Amino acid sequence: MRVLYLSAEAGLGGAERSLLDILASMRRAQPSWTLNLIAGADGPLLEHAATLGVSTLVVPFDGRLARLGEYGTGPLSLLAKITLAAPAAVKYAAKLRRITESIAPDIVHTNNLKMHVIGAWARPAHAALVWHLHDFIGSRRLSAFVLRAASGRASAIVANSASVAEDARAVFDSHVPVVMVHNGVDLDRFSGAGDRVDLDRLSGLPPAAPGVVRVGLVATFGRWKGHTTFLDAVAALPADLPVRGYIIGGAVYRTDDSQYSIDDLKRYASDRGVADRVGFTGFIERPEYALRSLDVVIHASTSPEPFGLVIAEAMACGRAVIASNAGGAREIFTPGLDALVHAPGNARDLAARIVELARDPQARQRIGQAGRKTAEQRFDRARLATDLVPVYRKVAHA
Ligand code: GLC
Repeated sequence: MRVLYLSAEAGLGGAERSLLDILASMRRAQPSWTLNLIAGADGPLLEHAATLGVSTLVVPFDGRLARLGEYGTGPLSLLAKITLAAPAAVKYAAKLRRITESIAPDIVHTNNLKMHVIGAWARPAHAALVWHLHDFIGSRRLSAFVLRAASGRASAIVANSASVAEDARAVFDSHVPVVMVHNGVDLDRFSGAGDRVDLDRLSGLPPAAPGVVRVGLVATFGRWKGHTTFLDAVAALPADLPVRGYIIGGAVYRTDDSQYSIDDLKRYASDRGVADRVGFTGFIERPEYALRSLDVVIHASTSPEPFGLVIAEAMACGRAVIASNAGGAREIFTPGLDALVHAPGNARDLAARIVELARDPQARQRIGQAGRKTAEQRFDRARLATDLVPVYRKVAHA
């Protein structure tokens, strides 16, 4: 079997890291299969995939296509943007089709919205198309419309959570079978033992006093990841509580307006009077080092999180997690047992949970240990190939 993966992005956001886990899991379970990856940009995704033995190729998007995104644009201006980007997309799909024909895959597995659409045009006639949904699309009317129009060319949809699967079933009206495959984690890499990083130094802050509880949000800079909720929560903490906050991550995507810049967030932190209580580390290539360096990991998405890979990774590292209680994220944990939760966007609620854990090291340890156990039982990435291979076999025409 020959599987070709298509990714619009090559930075390491959640969907790209999930793809790397799939590639690693597939490589191990099916060593004789040929795995190819084509990305719309060059970046760390390709290097990591190549070290797993995947053949990689960059077929770059033109700038307009790369920047096209739905965030913060009304339907009309989005329609205008799509219209402007359409010729580039058509040209790109034609070029990609010539390349995919020479690769002759049995399966084309696309990993993000742009590639779902482009893949529908570019897949060779004999290849089956599998869309891997990492997002809710029901609420994105134009994306839903475009995908619905292209869905006749897809043989199966993989959804990263039951919530995303339910949303997809509503959008596609059961035209395309939807299979739920929760993400997985490399349990050796994401574990309690191993290297850490000096978060203070990376943030340019003086070393924190001994006994300070390190609480951090690890996320891309997408505007719905709850950075301002987290900063508001830090601002609401008692001044004498020994807590230092960290914002770990950067703007890894190329789409217009969808992300904060680090300066936006630093300004917000100083407006809230917490500039000296919160460190900004920038993007950290090895998220497991960052997670292990924290006592409490915050997930604060203000919209329902499709899955929330960082939650599963933090649990695998034995960290105490406080998560935003909505969407697919709720399928990962049992509140009170292996994570604490707060209402999405509610900074007071989040601050109350931080206070609880900052004052109770035993609770941090108990939750962290329970989290590791959950990760071992449910999120070992070896499961990814076990779940996906039957999907590929079922839809492959060969
Ligand atoms: C996207 C989703 C995130 C999920 C990841 C991997 O980044 O926003 O919730 O964890 O994909 O599926």
